[in-house]
Amino acid sequence: MALRQIRTYGDEILAKKCRVIENVTPRIKELAQDMLDTMYEANGVGLAAPQVGVLKRLVVIDVTSDEEEANPIIMINPEILESDGEQTGDEGCLSVPGKVGTVTRPMHVVAKAFDLDMREYRIEAEGLLARAICHEIDHLEGRVYVEIAEGGIRDMEAPDGE
Ligand code: NI
Repeated sequence: MALRQIRTYGDEILAKKCRVIENVTPRIKELAQDMLDTMYEANGVGLAAPQVGVLKRLVVIDVTSDEEEANPIIMINPEILESDGEQTGDEGCLSVPGKVGTVTRPMHVVAKAFDLDMREYRIEAEGLLARAICHEIDHLEGRVYVEIAEGGIRDMEAPDGE
């Protein structure tokens, strides 16, 4: 397991547009695994390559809870094909630790991406997964949710008992 350092908001790399991945090299596979390890270690539900300092179009997502079996999703060159509906709710980001903000996203998206074998696949997502896909693809365009949070960002409430 190799953890990578997560860049925090204000780091200029988070404002840059990422490049398309043409080939899945061993380095890309290692990056994807490191990103998953880093995301799980940080208790996040998604992580995009620029957040670990790599300007490539790769994101990892897992919206399952601790009690559920892990369901890692690796998306290379992801694109939203369709979106509809609307959800307004709190969103956070591992690059903006301890903060949340209210963001409106589509309730439902259909996206396409490539897997680590460079096979194209489609994914249909609702709710939190749809939100995560939109959030992570924004990172690939150099956008961080704080810029679209309604009313700005605020401190995350401490979990019960802390
Ligand atoms: Ni984020």
